[in-house]
Amino acid sequence: MKRIALAAAAAVAVTALALTGCSSSGGRGGDAGASESAAAGFAADATIGVALPDKTSENWVLAGNLFENGLKDAGFKGDVQYAPASNTVAEQQNQISAMITNGAKVIVIGAKDGKQLGTQLQQAADAGVKIIAYDRLIENTPNVDYYVAFDNFKVGELQGQALLDGLEARSGHAAPWNIELFSGSPDDANSAVFFNGAMKVLQPKIDDGTLVVKSGQTDIQQTATQGWKAENAQSRMDSLLTANYTSATIDGVLSPNDTLARAIITSVKQAGKDISTFTVTGQDSEVESVKSIMAGEQYSTINKDTSLLVEQTIKMIGQLQKGEEVDVNDTEQYDNGVKVVPAYLLPPVIVTKENAAEAYANNPTLLDIVKAAQ
Ligand code: BGC
Repeated sequence: MKRIALAAAAAVAVTALALTGCSSSGGRGGDAGASESAAAGFAADATIGVALPDKTSENWVLAGNLFENGLKDAGFKGDVQYAPASNTVAEQQNQISAMITNGAKVIVIGAKDGKQLGTQLQQAADAGVKIIAYDRLIENTPNVDYYVAFDNFKVGELQGQALLDGLEARSGHAAPWNIELFSGSPDDANSAVFFNGAMKVLQPKIDDGTLVVKSGQTDIQQTATQGWKAENAQSRMDSLLTANYTSATIDGVLSPNDTLARAIITSVKQAGKDISTFTVTGQDSEVESVKSIMAGEQYSTINKDTSLLVEQTIKMIGQLQKGEEVDVNDTEQYDNGVKVVPAYLLPPVIVTKENAAEAYANNPTLLDIVKAAQ
């Protein structure tokens, strides 16, 4: 009897401890050592880790610089690291482990492979380190506290709609239109979200015959672009053109980002096709793609203002530091396989030649490009 009662009491104590340790309100931080203020989550000059993937698009380069400066301005010690282009997954795992060992209180992660961080995030949880998934969701682990990103499903929907609009405006003929589909890297959780968002718009049009995918390659495995690499998109586009479009016209391509869009344009040009009647979508508002849009080649991109995303992330870190409730605006959409991760989502903006000046009004670099071309 006594043993059972003791065991039960111990179990209650353990449960209470466990509950305290994994308080998910974001309000605690669990750092008993922070003595400045009883309410604070951790010291105001704590180290914050930022683990970014390899630089597969301009926005990752920009994010690193913005985090360096923004964390310093907010009083934190920033430890910003990129995974190198080769052996990225293992390197990122090592970087995150080192950040935990070195005492980071929060680690912001742009995952290289969002399914392979379970061990490191368990280590983080055990050490009371909060994890914010940045731009890409981290999957299959309970130990991701928040997600901050642009609304990626919406990005896909906007891309799908832009493809339809571009076909209508540029192809010079009525439906049916011949299109091909590209998606991002399979190790990036965003790739499926972008693709599913786009297919919500495009699938009904494929089903009713408005759109024809001559290759028949419509599922995500067939359309994937390993590593988000331009050369992989270009060689797949070359093969698609050779196999299906030596005599037929290709009217458009769904491309998930700008880097791949430009590779697809290169391939279409090299095949001797007319680019002025061809529509390709993109994402990221990369400098070269904004130039291409203004020159009438790439049809659309998406503006996901990296400075706003980094600013929101640093705001969340500040809330964790002060022991305040962390701002989230979505608690339903981002199920990582183990839990629905509380998210703060920002709205993406579709950009074509028509609205470029308005869309980049607050971005002097891009606005200059737009103005120079007008
Ligand atoms: C980002 C995109 C980017 C892609 C490749 C995605 O996770 O959301 O903005 O184009 O990675 O870097």
